[in-house]
Amino acid sequence: MSNTPTPLENKTRSLNLGERKQNFCSQTINNRLIHTAIRTEVLPEVDSTNAYLLRQIKNKADIHGHAVIAQRQTQGKGRQGKTWVAKEGQSLPISLAWRFPKSMPLSALPLVVSLCVWQVLSTLGVPAQIKWPNDLMIEQAKLVGVLVESIQTPTESISVIGIGINLSTPKITDRLTLGIWDYNPLCDGNHLATLLLLALNQTLLQFEQHGFSLFKKAYLSACRDLGNPVVLWHKEAILAQGIMQSVTDEGALILRSDNIENTFMIGEVSLRGHNA
Ligand code: BTN
Repeated sequence: MSNTPTPLENKTRSLNLGERKQNFCSQTINNRLIHTAIRTEVLPEVDSTNAYLLRQIKNKADIHGHAVIAQRQTQGKGRQGKTWVAKEGQSLPISLAWRFPKSMPLSALPLVVSLCVWQVLSTLGVPAQIKWPNDLMIEQAKLVGVLVESIQTPTESISVIGIGINLSTPKITDRLTLGIWDYNPLCDGNHLATLLLLALNQTLLQFEQHGFSLFKKAYLSACRDLGNPVVLWHKEAILAQGIMQSVTDEGALILRSDNIENTFMIGEVSLRGHNA
């Protein structure tokens, strides 16, 4: 393999803004959310913003519309039991609690959330694409991760929607990553959080009314791998390979290989491009 850096690696290295830090401010964000059900709390330090909201739900707090941002997150949770690592003030770790009717199918919620983040990033000039089900990527480099965790009560479902957005490029050795500041150095984290919460407010209300079918076309057009060969992994072993055809109304991946279509639900599987 050649040691020559790819254009993406060159960009990652040359634009890394090092130790710049974002300070989050709840008042700045909440001032612009007054017409929504969302209120934001900024914590100087927490283990995980998702875990923080889940604890409150278990303590029976009514936290619909409660958003939490951590200045420093010490045990960020990723999908499939992985950790989410980010340095203080160099990422936006945010979680939002949202109540849904008990009958509402929520399997496609992570896809809808990723589309919402994609729309916000587009307005900020960040050319990301979605990797099924809910990562935001620039080519092979990850920019945003989403972790939705839901709790069922006898009367309703409560989802904690966790989003981790890299502001600067984290120094992680085993995979390519990028940050918003690589593409939009002037982007302020409070502005980003505000745009995101305003967009989520609208999107979640629409999702509750219409389900995933309203978003499916837009989701597919933002997907990096639609029509391309992909490999599906399960615990470091290849589970399936094929062309990404589409997603179902439940958010499952449809892969075609040898003229046969197979469907894979979100869960323990992860998707990689053919060359990744
Ligand atoms: C992934 O790509 O594996 C999902 C990463 C999700 C990270 C975010 S950061 C805010 C929220 N709190 C957490 O502990 N995790 C999510």
